[in-house]
Amino acid sequence: MGISLAVRQGDEAARSTQGGLVELAPPPPLLEISRATKIYGGGLLQGGQRVGALRDFNLTLPEKPAAIVTIAGESGSGKTTLANSVLGFTTLTSGQILYRGQDVSQLSRQQHITYRREVQAIFQDPYEVYNPFYRIKHVLDMVIQRFHLARDRSSADQMIESALRVVGLRDAEVLEKYPHQLSGGQRQRIMVARAFLLRPRLIVADEPVSMVDASLRAMILEIMLRMRDEYGISFIYITHDLSTAYQISDYTYILYKGSIAEKGPTPSVIEHPRHPYVQLLLGSIPIPDPKQRWQTSVHIPSEDDQLQAGVDGCPFYARCSYHMERCRAAMPPRYEVNGDGHQCACYLCDQAEKGGTSHTNGGH
Ligand SMILES: Nc1ncnc2c1ncn2[C@@H]1O[C@H](COP(=O)(O)OP(=O)(O)OP(=O)(O)O)[C@@H](O)[C@H]1O
Ligand code: SF4
Ligand SMILES: [Mg+2]
Repeated sequence: MGISLAVRQGDEAARSTQGGLVELAPPPPLLEISRATKIYGGGLLQGGQRVGALRDFNLTLPEKPAAIVTIAGESGSGKTTLANSVLGFTTLTSGQILYRGQDVSQLSRQQHITYRREVQAIFQDPYEVYNPFYRIKHVLDMVIQRFHLARDRSSADQMIESALRVVGLRDAEVLEKYPHQLSGGQRQRIMVARAFLLRPRLIVADEPVSMVDASLRAMILEIMLRMRDEYGISFIYITHDLSTAYQISDYTYILYKGSIAEKGPTPSVIEHPRHPYVQLLLGSIPIPDPKQRWQTSVHIPSEDDQLQAGVDGCPFYARCSYHMERCRAAMPPRYEVNGDGHQCACYLCDQAEKGGTSHTNGGH
């Protein structure tokens, strides 16, 4: 991803000294995920079944400008596995996640503390992450204390007030309440405020708006945009809903069975999908209407279908109306489709066959 972003980063790395231009090495990206693969199972507990939850996943987020990257796909496509891997809740079977050039599985104690502050999570159901016996004020105070964010009580209060203001809550309304006394939307916004208190560089948001109503959804998406634009916070935004992806994200990745089917700048992917699976998903709403939620009735192949397709071939083979013999033999690489970082993992996008461009396995 992000050819234009990489160029801007390169420009900043060139500094003038005594009238001459000196090329400095560009800073490492904020986040760099390389060939991330997670295979669950194979042990006695899973009855020997192995599930490829994530395969060869690559993503690069530059330090700046901050960006919102959507990870979309149907249930079981590997979205939460990716989120958990970035957050350190799951270890990869292979591949690497680098944060500012450091492998997150090998951080020192100090680096780990910094990582836990700078990379925050927002989940679908915030109730599960609250301790029911703590008032909201205590929840927020604990974060401030744990990370030594404030010098004294009054600066802690100011931080809480400004974090609540960012998410559109007035402090008196919520601070003395227990989690069960809040609405779902208030709980979700407190979670966002809690993350914001830490001034993170990256928020991994796993379906943050799937359990809230339309007006609250719009408000939370608006808050995310503000955090990106005013506070330089990047997001990995996980969703089933391509209409919200279209509304707020800079880049979109579509997963199918743990693999990237298509990715690139959001308008390019959503307005001009190239992969048969993504075309099917978007077929009913050629250009998504932000007011309409993306509902899909796409049939996911059964295990038998998967076996027919073979483990090496395209994971979408059994459902694809365009499949060819070569699709069974090997996983298609990701082909560049129009030079803006838009890539499609389908042999139909192989421009070389039509006398055009090349493919990439590792490009972002
Ligand atoms: N702890 C686990 N043990 C075994 N298999 C798992 C585990 N966690 C996830 N999986 C499997 O990995 C695959 C990807 O799951 P994941 O939760 O990442 O999907 P998802 O895209 O987040 O789905 P949803 O939209 O339903 O949240 C699924 O086949 C799932 O059954
Ligand atoms: S690689 Fe083949 S089976 Fe897979 S989506 Fe493309 S045409 Fe269909
Ligand atoms: Mg999930």
